[in-house]
Amino acid sequence: MSAKPQESVLVVDFGAQYAQLIARRVRECKVYSEIVPYDISPEEIERRGAAALIFSGGPSSVYQEGAPRPDPGILELGLPVLGICYGHQLLAQELDGKVEATGIREYGKTEMNVKGNGILFEGLPLEQTVWMSHGDSVRGAPSGFQITAHTAASPVAAMEDPERRLYGVQFHPEVIHTPLGKDILKNFLYGAADLLPTWTMVSIIEQAVGEIRAKVGNNKIICGLSGGVDSATAAVLVHKAVGDQLTCVFVDHGLLRKREGEQVEDTFRRHFHMNLIHVQAQQRFLARLEGVTDPEVKRKTIGEEFIRVFEEVARELKDTHFLVQGTLYPDIIESGTRDAARIKSHHNVGGLPEEMDFTLVEPLRSLFKDEVRAAGEELGLPEEIVWRQPFPGPGLAIRIIGEVTAEKLEILRDADDIVLDEIKRAGLYKEIWQSFAVLPDIKSVGVMGDERTYAYPIVVRAVTSEDAMTADWARLPYEVMERISSRVINEVKGVNRVVLDISSKPPATIEWE
Ligand code: XMP
Repeated sequence: MSAKPQESVLVVDFGAQYAQLIARRVRECKVYSEIVPYDISPEEIERRGAAALIFSGGPSSVYQEGAPRPDPGILELGLPVLGICYGHQLLAQELDGKVEATGIREYGKTEMNVKGNGILFEGLPLEQTVWMSHGDSVRGAPSGFQITAHTAASPVAAMEDPERRLYGVQFHPEVIHTPLGKDILKNFLYGAADLLPTWTMVSIIEQAVGEIRAKVGNNKIICGLSGGVDSATAAVLVHKAVGDQLTCVFVDHGLLRKREGEQVEDTFRRHFHMNLIHVQAQQRFLARLEGVTDPEVKRKTIGEEFIRVFEEVARELKDTHFLVQGTLYPDIIESGTRDAARIKSHHNVGGLPEEMDFTLVEPLRSLFKDEVRAAGEELGLPEEIVWRQPFPGPGLAIRIIGEVTAEKLEILRDADDIVLDEIKRAGLYKEIWQSFAVLPDIKSVGVMGDERTYAYPIVVRAVTSEDAMTADWARLPYEVMERISSRVINEVKGVNRVVLDISSKPPATIEWE
């Protein structure tokens, strides 16, 4: 199940740092692209309906023993090929060109001179800045190739053989530091490979809808909603395909942010008219969390209870054999391009009900996160859902240090709402990866009016990040911090102090538990 079109460009991955980026850039040119391992067979390439190939960069030297090489049959398929960096050197090496270690490393922005006769550079200036990162160089192009660009250190910075439709560039067209990189990719895709820019959001949605219908038929299907963009987009897509056959389940474990439940009701029941089961399980989760202080035990407890609730609901929906999963393409890549079929446990709800016998429908499994957002927008999801910052499955429970109680939840939920409100008002919500409040398990002395107080502090945590693997504390403007501080202290009962977390990850983590 995917939004895969007939024609695709396969990025053959030789261990590149940038393989994902290449696929994304190709998709930005409205041509579908996927990453495949370098030892893919020619048959598999044909089976996947590849219309063109891109050989990625990689850390090895092509002349070293054990360096990754493609199956020689691949070049005999007659498909257009673009080699990038290591891929460029591979083309030279596999044919009869010459690759050597020059002792000169070209790294960073480099001036390149273009000869006016190449397809890759058609319509582009003869002097360009490109991004280089290599030690080896192609010293001689293979026969049949013309050299189309050079730099001070690379006599063959680009080469092409239009007859065999083979193209190589030493630089990285996929990175933004090569300003004309996308134009060069477009020249390869539309000019050299004769592809058309037809992979648009509308076509992606149409295709996915068709595939969902074919897979689900007249059967019933269930989808767990978390309030985040992935499950929401997957649900709306499946609903578009099979309408009332879909039932969405939203488990309110009482650990959500303010108004989250209402928003799910508004969006899915009132706006999209979907079958929605809204399980009010607040008391149940709170009871299970009584006395629990260890972060991992909290996670496990919430995860298990979640599955139990979900199973109970699913059992009542008799004859439902299909389950929607919001798996994304990066999840598939992370699980190894080779075993792309591996099913990821639904990290957002803390694990799939394992013993349940569902056929999975994963309508987003070929999309990157930003593509999911674009699809969500196209499908009419509200901006608050489409652009929502990530939120952990165990919710506010891992932002309350120590035992979770109803009182602490109320304090944290109110404080968190103010933090988010002020960040949104300052126009910072989208550029900040996550911003939220944390309630530590301490009290401190304060003074309000003439009275001494002994109350909780609230920690403000805001980070910037690309992927949550590393993060930096966000430099919030003083005025924003001031408003957060004064509002939290004035409006949230039980709080007399606001502090700011200025730790990056590593060594800290984004969450406090
Ligand atoms: P840390 O705190 O490890 O968080 O830097 C990295 C990212 O993961 C999210 N997170 C979780 N998400 N279940 C989830 O679904 C969890 O138990 C969990 N713990 C952390 C966190 O919000 C951040 O985006």
